[in-house]
Amino acid sequence: MTNQITIYEVGPRDGLQNEGSIIPTAGKIALIDTLSKTGLRKIEATSFVSPKWVPQMADAANVMAGITRNPSVDYAVLTPNMRGLEGALNANADEVAIFGSASESFSQKNLNCSIAESIERFTPVAKGAHEANVKLRGYVSCITDCPYEGAINPAAVLDVVTKLADQGCYEISLGDTIGRATPDTIKRVLETLLAKFPATLFAGHFHDTSGNAIQNVATALPFGLRTFDSAIGGLGGCPYAPGARGNVSTIPLVEYLHENGWKTGLDMGVLTQAQNILNGFGLKGSS
Ligand code: HMG
Ligand code: MG
Repeated sequence: MTNQITIYEVGPRDGLQNEGSIIPTAGKIALIDTLSKTGLRKIEATSFVSPKWVPQMADAANVMAGITRNPSVDYAVLTPNMRGLEGALNANADEVAIFGSASESFSQKNLNCSIAESIERFTPVAKGAHEANVKLRGYVSCITDCPYEGAINPAAVLDVVTKLADQGCYEISLGDTIGRATPDTIKRVLETLLAKFPATLFAGHFHDTSGNAIQNVATALPFGLRTFDSAIGGLGGCPYAPGARGNVSTIPLVEYLHENGWKTGLDMGVLTQAQNILNGFGLKGSS
């Protein structure tokens, strides 16, 4: 099996969405443009979500219009509904993501609807993405723990994964939304999912609240996962997941992978330049 890992950089979206002070659009563009020179092939640039729900992402169209595209990079955006898909298509996004949850309470808080309603809402989004030849990714939040319900049964994750796979997602990112997963709970959910689906369908999206994220990556690697989401500077969190801290930080994750014989194709010098741009934002993130 390949020793090549895809780092899926979510810093400009997940990293920034939870920041209270609005970052100027030009700063977000400078960050994405520098990330585009690191060797990354996947950058989640922004979200076409309701600005009432996530004010930081209100400038999504301007961010997408302002970046300098590297043709080797897929620029991805979140699209919770048809309004989001229209924004994404107008902005020429290369990839869109629908995002569901294995927890009913989190679905209500984050999307204002039940899990079943969210899947119904995603159906035309998925169809529209396929018709436009835009790659479709899926997320499942709360794969082990929910901020409102506590422990989550792996069967609930399998159920949502099955529905997102039916909608034609080429990849499903498994979200430890609040960073409470442990190697044991990651193992349990992966055993359930990989009994039905190939490891190549999945990416790991581990927040680092408890400092377990890199260990959780290490747990997922022998299962065959080869794509991991991370955020430059370890920024991130979801406004509707109280207590969640940042995503696993890109630079330490890449260092860990390189030290252990994995290849990412990423340039540490340029990644450091990208991380330094965050200093100018005056944010809380750290590596
Ligand atoms: P709602 O209030 O039920 O929807 O929210 P609505 O249809 O009634 O719309 C409310 C207002 O938003 C309306 O405006 C709509 O036009 C507007 P008004 O008429 O009041 O002026 N609106 C939009 N505007 C721009 N773009 C849109 C859009 N849709 C509606 N796409 C809704 C439902 C889904 C819109 C809302 O709940 C929402 O935007 N939620 C997104 C929350 C979010 O982005 N959370 C963070 C990302 S998920 C995450 O971080 C987890 C992840 O990282 C994985 C992990 O860690 O587990 C992915
Ligand atoms: Mg997240």
